[in-house]
Amino acid sequence: MTPILEVRDLRVYFKTIYGDAKSVDGVSFDVYEREIFGIAGESGCGKSTLVEAALRLIKPPGYVPTGEIRFRGRDLLSMKPRELQKLRWKEVAYIPQGSMNALNPVLKVSEQLTDGILAHSDASKKEARSAALAGLHSVGMPPEVAEMYPHELSGGMSQRVAISMSTSMKPSLILADEPITALDVIMQRLNLQTIADLRDEHGITIMMVAHDMACHAEICDRICVMYGGRMMEIAETTLLFSDPLHPYTHGLLKAVPSIKRRESESIEGIAPSPLNWPSGCRFHPRCPRRMEVCVDTVPPMREVRPGRFVACHLFDTEAAEGADTVGTADAGESTDAAEKSA
Ligand SMILES: Nc1ncnc2c1ncn2[C@@H]1O[C@H](COP(=O)(O)OP(=O)(O)OP(=O)(O)O)[C@@H](O)[C@H]1O
Ligand SMILES: [Mg+2]
Repeated sequence: MTPILEVRDLRVYFKTIYGDAKSVDGVSFDVYEREIFGIAGESGCGKSTLVEAALRLIKPPGYVPTGEIRFRGRDLLSMKPRELQKLRWKEVAYIPQGSMNALNPVLKVSEQLTDGILAHSDASKKEARSAALAGLHSVGMPPEVAEMYPHELSGGMSQRVAISMSTSMKPSLILADEPITALDVIMQRLNLQTIADLRDEHGITIMMVAHDMACHAEICDRICVMYGGRMMEIAETTLLFSDPLHPYTHGLLKAVPSIKRRESESIEGIAPSPLNWPSGCRFHPRCPRRMEVCVDTVPPMREVRPGRFVACHLFDTEAAEGADTVGTADAGESTDAAEKSA
């Protein structure tokens, strides 16, 4: 499998009067060509910051102290602004969090899409308008929607208009930050299917942030679980749901209500602050399977089974017996975790 996006030891900090908020703090992962890659995790764990950094959209007081982000081998962090400008939208498009609520009420759908395309490309007005109509078509919207105003659209239609904006320039990769929000289940499914079709019919790779695990289950091939600015686990979707490894992933899945289990259980304790992450494993203060080693030793992200990455001391022995240590995000900080028994 060829990676389209390779992220290595990425950190994004925000300067504040209390010190640096370490919102993304050493994440490494690959997104493969034509896959739908999900990013999950509680509010505040750094999902949006990660996506913004991947598009080099972090502005002061935010900064990127370390990291590499390669799109088809080209390093985005060292790219000249002009080169980056060419790549954004045409090759890598973005659906920002809340974009469906940001439609301008006085512009028709076609006008706002055309304006958006003109702002992000050197297309002529005529080309931009036809790209806007093609974008609407690609997300299954009838042509008459182009002549509507935002107040004439349902919530689900507004979401699809926002999705169509990102597809209009026929990119290879779309980074979608919470593209599906509170809608009825049928509309949610329809819009998730629209996103899946972008991959199935147009070959577009998708990296999708959502905090609803049910959305991930519906369309993602693989999922990574973030906590406290780091990756806790990366796995194929079916394996993540059938056999979650990290105790935090267990907690996230238990929080999803199901038909069998009507009651959902929330994870005990409160999410920590990026100004003061806990020592050792960042999840240790809330972890039901906490061990002594977790308090002060950072668990490195390891490939404990082929394609199965987890950062948890419970799997130190399995990792020592099985595969190599990979994803070096924390390797420098951790002590020899493999010596400690699970
Ligand atoms: N400009 C900023 N200054 C200081 N802290 C910031 C700034 N932007 C983001 N943060 C902090 O970074 C952390 C991660 O924020 P982010 O928006 O990436 O979280 P998220 O996982 O997308 O959450 P949600 O699910 O609510 O969208 C938060 O604690 C947030 O307060
Ligand atoms: Mg967010």
